[in-house]
Amino acid sequence: MTTPDEIGSLTLFSRRVVLADRETAATVVVEDGIIVAVEADHQRAGAVDLGEDLLIPGLVELHTDHLEPHYQPRPKVHWDPLSAVFAYDAQIASSGITTVFDSLRIGSDDDRPTTADGLLDLSEAIETAKGTGLLRSDHHTHLRCEIPSRGVVEEAESYLARFDVRLMSLMDHTPGQRQFRDEEKLRTYYRGKTGLSEADLDKLFANRRARAAEIGDPNKRGLVALAHRAGIALASHDDTIIDHVAESVADRVSIAEFPTTVEAARASHAAGISVLMGAPNVVRGGSHSGNVSAVDLAAAGVLDILSSDYVPISLIHGAFDLRDVPALGGLAGAIQTVTLKPALATGMTDRGEIAVGKRGDLVRVALVGDRPVVREVWRTGRRIA
Ligand SMILES: [Fe+2]
Repeated sequence: MTTPDEIGSLTLFSRRVVLADRETAATVVVEDGIIVAVEADHQRAGAVDLGEDLLIPGLVELHTDHLEPHYQPRPKVHWDPLSAVFAYDAQIASSGITTVFDSLRIGSDDDRPTTADGLLDLSEAIETAKGTGLLRSDHHTHLRCEIPSRGVVEEAESYLARFDVRLMSLMDHTPGQRQFRDEEKLRTYYRGKTGLSEADLDKLFANRRARAAEIGDPNKRGLVALAHRAGIALASHDDTIIDHVAESVADRVSIAEFPTTVEAARASHAAGISVLMGAPNVVRGGSHSGNVSAVDLAAAGVLDILSSDYVPISLIHGAFDLRDVPALGGLAGAIQTVTLKPALATGMTDRGEIAVGKRGDLVRVALVGDRPVVREVWRTGRRIA
């Protein structure tokens, strides 16, 4: 019995292989986990013929919180963490994602205790699952840090001492700015979730603003220093104004997650910071919190990376939806937003494209109308879905 962690060899032929810059018929040969030949316009004898299906690189996902609903399928109901991790992994792999950054949160934007429910149990379950060699996708950790939380720097420090983290994002969900610059939207959310009165909400928001003013700056400086010391890539979150981007440049941030305005996205992209937007925003035709549309950013030439955010299958679906946006340069450019660009933004130079020397991470895709359907997935040449 082989396990997904083992490497494999295979030879595939597709009439539609999506390379980084174009689409072509080609034979792709993987030996011992690595792509050793891409023979354009050639069908090698003995290659598995994929018929009309496309062959694209394995997707790279930087920000998915989809593990949470597997671990907590109902409010206050916790599933066995190890079982949750394997079920989540299966869904990730069958969505064509061969490299995934599991997003886990520390700090709190509320007055609740800061460590998210079950964070450590879940993190340990991920480590245990990795150790079995049975995970289908290649898992990494994206630690999401809520800046204006008491003790968040110490919490991050002790987390990094225990677990391997490859990306940290710096969030600030204080009412009246960034994602919630329209405070009314946050009020609506809280009214629905907590049933608090208007007077209670006034008090809660005032407390949060006061806390942010008191500890926001020192916490942010502490988290940035921690990431740099550990050599971890940094992402900003919900940038809205040019000053936010200037802060990111000063903090050597490499990814801007979910900018809320065209101005912020444009400034980040111009500064060489990769602009990441949610694929559900593309598929649904707009932002669920009423902010800028990802397709508009793509049309303006300032969208670099898509992330599945809360729906794993949205990653491939969103990329295919972007193939008609001229600024991206067709299907090859659209696929880069979910493969090569997220890989490079996190320093992974060994994957993200179908090219000699890269990992044999591949996805066979059928089209049903204009919808992509994932049929087969290989990681380092081994079939994982
Ligand atoms: Fe946010």
